[in-house]
Amino acid sequence: MRMYDLIQKKKEGLALATNEINYFVQGYMDDQIPDYQASALLMAIYFCGLNERETTDLTMAICNSGEQVDLSAIPGVKVDKHSTGGVGDKTTLVLIPLVAAAGLPVAKMSGRGLGHTGGTVDKLESIPGFQVALDSEQFISQVRRIGAAVVAQTNLLAPADKKLYALRDVTATVDSIPLIASSIMSKKIASGADAIVLDVKVGSGAFMPDQQRAIKLARTMVDIGNQAGRRTAALVTNMDQPLGLAVGNALEVQEAIDTLRGQGPGDLLEICLELGAIMLLLAGKVADLQVGRGELLNLLKNGRALNKLEELIMAQGGDPRVVRQDGLLPAAEFTRAVPAPSTGYIRGINATAIGRSAMLLGAGRENMESVIDPSAGIVLQKKVGDPVEAGATLALLHANSTEGLEQVAAYVGQAYQIGFVRPRPVQLILGTVPVELSVPG
Ligand code: URA
Repeated sequence: MRMYDLIQKKKEGLALATNEINYFVQGYMDDQIPDYQASALLMAIYFCGLNERETTDLTMAICNSGEQVDLSAIPGVKVDKHSTGGVGDKTTLVLIPLVAAAGLPVAKMSGRGLGHTGGTVDKLESIPGFQVALDSEQFISQVRRIGAAVVAQTNLLAPADKKLYALRDVTATVDSIPLIASSIMSKKIASGADAIVLDVKVGSGAFMPDQQRAIKLARTMVDIGNQAGRRTAALVTNMDQPLGLAVGNALEVQEAIDTLRGQGPGDLLEICLELGAIMLLLAGKVADLQVGRGELLNLLKNGRALNKLEELIMAQGGDPRVVRQDGLLPAAEFTRAVPAPSTGYIRGINATAIGRSAMLLGAGRENMESVIDPSAGIVLQKKVGDPVEAGATLALLHANSTEGLEQVAAYVGQAYQIGFVRPRPVQLILGTVPVELSVPG
């Protein structure tokens, strides 16, 4: 087999055979195929696409390039959840204890954040003492014992994705639906869950700004998951403004705790209930989403979901008192209010600009070597649709240095769009895959 022939074939719009896709991924991993030929194939895929079978083959070849987690020692249906990444997206922090309290075993491998979106592992590490470095025996035995565990995803999982992603990043081939879908799903399948729920974000704070493409990405990933024998479903959700109010690690943990206490923001709760209900449905715990939502609401009301978070924090060496006692999470030295420049309604909030601002305050990484400040971030005081008076606070910045604070305040102020006309209510859930999921009963 010759790489030249594969490039030529894809350039002509023909489908690659399974053994050709395996040859490409293995050859690239073994340094037998040079970057320039791999880049040429990626670009041909970018323009000519991959059919469903090729996309699944690529996913499995990437998945098979590394370790695959075996969760079979954990009884029950293991359901994983993945978000394509959004600003203020702390749904995983709420969902882990919530669905674990409903009896679903949660064996979660999560990533760290890069750029303007934070990672679940970084957020959990803002809890004093919390450890994410469990070995696989500890990981599995903790899930068996308390029903939930979270570990940092290792580089041993789908290593071909890391290498291919780095190449895509420098060859302008990141935004290809089959390449994104195979990249995400290879890691999810390697993580070992029986079922997968995907939250595909669309809007100004997501890497998919266009709804049609987001739905296509969701369908592609659901097809891959199902073909790989994992029950898979997706929600397409709005990321035109940050989710909830808090952006930044400890601030987001606090908001997740508030949500489990029944005092969280409505948009965050809504997405958590919907994703959680789908997780229960895929695991066969409930017959329909309405029943699932009802069950999850009960677990919030009776405090069991909050108890489960406390148990999880304790099991992983963290200070469990953060769950009931405010003031124990890291707090920034300075806060700075961002005032509204005019009176009117909030018509838009550029989520990427808010995410970048939080990163500038220290909440995110500019590169993998950056050190995160767990206490830094932004708490929005106004969201889209809210009325506002000139001079009222739009957002509160939390930082440990006053250097650059004024510029960030100006940047956050510019992220807000204020107008005289009240905007239409935000539609939070833009679609489900499969569509029947959204039909009650
Ligand atoms: N996230 C991934 O893991 N891979 C992509 O290609 C894009 C987003």
